[in-house]
Amino acid sequence: MSILKLCQVNRTYNENKSSEVRALRDINMEIDKGEMVAILGPSGSGKSTLLHILGCIDADYHGTYLLYDENMTMKSDKEIANIRNKKLGFVLQEYGLLLDKTVLENVSIPLWFSDCKIRYIKNKCLVILKILGIQDYYNKKVNELSGGQKQRVAIARALVNDPDIILADEPTGALDQTTSEEIMEELRKLNQAGKTIIIVTHDPRISEVCTKTFHIVDGTIRLIPN
Ligand SMILES: Nc1ncnc2c1ncn2[C@@H]1O[C@H](COP(=O)(O)OP(=O)(O)O)[C@@H](O)[C@H]1O
Ligand SMILES: [Mg+2]
Repeated sequence: MSILKLCQVNRTYNENKSSEVRALRDINMEIDKGEMVAILGPSGSGKSTLLHILGCIDADYHGTYLLYDENMTMKSDKEIANIRNKKLGFVLQEYGLLLDKTVLENVSIPLWFSDCKIRYIKNKCLVILKILGIQDYYNKKVNELSGGQKQRVAIARALVNDPDIILADEPTGALDQTTSEEIMEELRKLNQAGKTIIIVTHDPRISEVCTKTFHIVDGTIRLIPN
C-alpha cells in the first residue's frame, strides 16, 4: 500500500518572473510502507525541493500530494504541522543542528512544542541517543563532535517523535566512505525496525542498500528497477 503519493507535482521558484526556475516537472511517484527509497540525482536536479514537499516543509507546489491517503493540498497550515510532527522525521542537509547547543538540547527540539514533561523529554532523548551509540556525548556541544557523530545527532533528532517516515537529505554528503557506510547501516537498521526511509543523494552507492531507486534529472523523475 502506498503511504506517500505525488500526482503531477510541479514546483517553480520565482514563478512568472525573469528568474523563474522550474525545479520539479510533472512528478509522479509512490512509496509504500516499509520501503527504503533512494532518490538519486546530480546537484541542482531538484532533490531537496522534492524532499521538502514530501516532508511537508514546502506547500508551494502545483499538483496533488497524498500522505496516508490524505490530500495534503486540502489541509490548513496547522493540520499540516500536526501531521508533520506526528508522522515525519527530517534529517536536514549539512545536519541542520544548532552548533553551540548540546547534543541533548538539539535532539529534544521536536519535543519543545509537545506537552511532555522535561524529565520525560530527557529520558526519551537518552534512549534514542543510546540506539545511535552516542549517549556518552549527550552533554557535549555539537561543534565538538565529528561529522559522523553530528549526523547521528541529526538522525536522533528526526527519531525523537517516533515518526513512521524518515526523510534524509544527503545524509552521507559530508562524510568519508567508512563513516557513510556506518550511517547507512543505522538507517538500514531503522528500516528493518519498520520505518519507511527516503534518502536523497548524489551517491549511486546509496541506492545499493535501498529497495527502490528514483533517478531525478533536471526536475524530472523516473523509477529505476533495482
Ligand atoms: N529558494 C530558491 N529560489 C530559487 N531557486 C531555487 C531555490 N531553491 C532551489 N532553487 C533552484 O532549484 C533547482 C533545484 O534545487 P534543489 O532542489 O536544491 O537541488 P538539489 O537538492 O538536487 O541540489 C536548482 O536549480 C536551484 O538553484
Ligand atoms: Mg540539495
